[in-house]
Amino acid sequence: MSDSIPLFEIPWDQRDVANAVDSITRGSYWANGPYVEAFEAGLEEYLGVEHAVTVSSGTTALVAALTAHGVGEGDEVIVPSFTFIATANAVRQTGARPVFADIQRAAYGLDPDAVADAISDDTAAIVPIHPYGAACEIDALTELAADADIPLIEDAAEAFGADYEGKLLGTFGESAALSFCQNKILPTGEGGAVVTDDDGIARRVKRYRSHGRASDEYFQSVDSGEYVGVGTNVRMSDLVASIGCAQLEKVEANITGRRRAAEQLSTGLAGVSGVEPHTAAGRGRHVFQLYTVTLEADIDRSVVIDTLTEREIASKVYWEPAAHQTEAYSEENGESASLPVTEDVAGRVLSLPIHPELRSAEVDRIVAGVSAGIERGRSTAPRLEARDARPK
Ligand SMILES: Cc1ncc(COP(=O)(O)O)c(C=O)c1O
Repeated sequence: MSDSIPLFEIPWDQRDVANAVDSITRGSYWANGPYVEAFEAGLEEYLGVEHAVTVSSGTTALVAALTAHGVGEGDEVIVPSFTFIATANAVRQTGARPVFADIQRAAYGLDPDAVADAISDDTAAIVPIHPYGAACEIDALTELAADADIPLIEDAAEAFGADYEGKLLGTFGESAALSFCQNKILPTGEGGAVVTDDDGIARRVKRYRSHGRASDEYFQSVDSGEYVGVGTNVRMSDLVASIGCAQLEKVEANITGRRRAAEQLSTGLAGVSGVEPHTAAGRGRHVFQLYTVTLEADIDRSVVIDTLTEREIASKVYWEPAAHQTEAYSEENGESASLPVTEDVAGRVLSLPIHPELRSAEVDRIVAGVSAGIERGRSTAPRLEARDARPK
């Protein structure tokens, strides 16, 4: 058996297998079947929302939500640059332009002041993320969006089950996008959903996900369908939803396991100087989709990564380059975007292994690996001036 510690493991059990077998052996309704309906109902109940509309991924959920809100060519959408590239790509896919705003040092979510500065006459939506599974300053952002009469669409891809002051993330905005990709809190392989209380948004997302059809009953009906808008096919299949149903049953236990593992890691790392775990203290229940630390500026992160790799411990940088620093976006936004906090944080974060069943012995190995990596990384760290001179 390998001794390596992967970045994540998928928490599957016989319930996932049984549901998948059930979906397959039914021999019908492999597209829009009963598990899709059950999964959507389960999501609605868990989140306490009127509508959960499943789609093929978190990215297509974002595109569907933006489209349903009428976002398109000529519009601007305010997004963080410190995010997975999909947040910005989804905006681009609607024809709108992502406008990057800086983040706060606490919890690394969008800075409401920076968002306020970025609002223009063309702003059609604000799309914050909840980094690593903890709330951004969602209360202030919700208020800001309401005052400016701009829809707030939460990119809650990383934050299923997280809350802020007892209110679940994904329920603050007029709509929210969820991701069920394999490394997320509720994994189905690939998958996503748009959640909303708004009947009109839900109806438009359903049309968008299924070719612009007026009704969802195409496969259950002999009708050819009525096509009332331009759409695509980003539906979730019944097989994927069957796994979603099984995952939903155990999601609370998995979140508890993640939080236990995160606490053990943080306790161990408290004795290591130069490293600050992202615990987002005071920002509600953190579900630790990622367990991320920030290294002091004089530590060479690549040495820490190498040290962990030598010890067969996975680690990964989420996210550098930040979106505005990528080739895809730098030409359009790089010159004008001044995102000092994003750039500083992107240069210092490192995500470590986390999953609900991470064992104490593995936690100890990770802590020891980070400690050894920091010791080596400090002595070889590039001089601070050199780091500051990196191309932005
Ligand atoms: C913040 C954020 N937004 C969007 C996505 C996209 O989700 P998916 O991979 O399901 O398309 C992700 C997933 O990595 C994410 O972390």
